[in-house]
Amino acid sequence: METSLQDLLPPYSRTQAIYTSRLILRPFQWTDLESLYRLRTAPEVMQWTSQVQTDSSIQQTREWMQRYMDDTETPRRNFNFIVTLRADKDNHPDELQPNSFSDDNSAIIGVCGLTSLDSLPVSPLPSFGYMFLPETWGKGYATEAVLGFQKEWKRLIDLGHQTHSIPLGSRHDLYDIRAVTLEANLPSASVLRKCGWSVYEAVEINGEKLLRWVLDRSVSSDLSTS
Ligand SMILES: CC(C)(COP(=O)(O)OP(=O)(O)OC[C@H]1O[C@@H](n2cnc3c(N)ncnc32)[C@H](O)[C@@H]1OP(=O)(O)O)[C@@H](O)C(=O)NCCC(=O)NCCS
Repeated sequence: METSLQDLLPPYSRTQAIYTSRLILRPFQWTDLESLYRLRTAPEVMQWTSQVQTDSSIQQTREWMQRYMDDTETPRRNFNFIVTLRADKDNHPDELQPNSFSDDNSAIIGVCGLTSLDSLPVSPLPSFGYMFLPETWGKGYATEAVLGFQKEWKRLIDLGHQTHSIPLGSRHDLYDIRAVTLEANLPSASVLRKCGWSVYEAVEINGEKLLRWVLDRSVSSDLSTS
């Protein structure tokens, strides 16, 4: 039987945090609800997402979160993370204090990861995405989070190749992931390019110009994860 991504990924409750020099990417928690509601009701964020509209209620944000926290889901269908600033690095901007309601005492700045382990019907490849609070833009956080995710992804897939004896470079390479941006989203395109992605297709759907991206599988990050 062919090994699938689901065989290689830990379940939600056993997913480990990813550390970069300024950030922590960790699994979703219910205490994140208020911060995520703030993120998903920012029009300047949501206009670039597939939903386009802001969430209309905190219940909608709760339902969106639920899909990334389901431990009973088999097979696992996503690998998505909350991004926080490392409290130990004293790098909170003045306007972004640690969330008083969060038990890890870190400020949530965004979300980054695989929202789905396939992009069917468009593609069998996992679908990657991210969004960050506007007050944190332009500080390199998205680039750092994406590189941190990619490093962990490569580690997990390489481990899977070893433990399941899958030859590297086999036809079905589990490392491949894809992303979609609106052509007008120049900051997002800049982040992906910096992280080793390239456009494989430009399409127009319902009058919207989209770019489809794939991560070059030879890319490996040299970012510190300590
Ligand atoms: C896209 C987004 C994640 C970037 O976050 P960020 O933390 O500001 O990203 P970084 O600081 O790591 O990098 C941003 C890059 O975009 C560049 N940039 C910003 N505005 C730009 C513009 N108008 N034109 C071209 N490049 C631009 C920055 O210069 C930087 O590149 P550089 O380091 O080469 O100078 C953030 O703007 C966001 O959350 N946007 C809304 C949601 C979204 O678009 N998600 C992605 C959907 S595909």
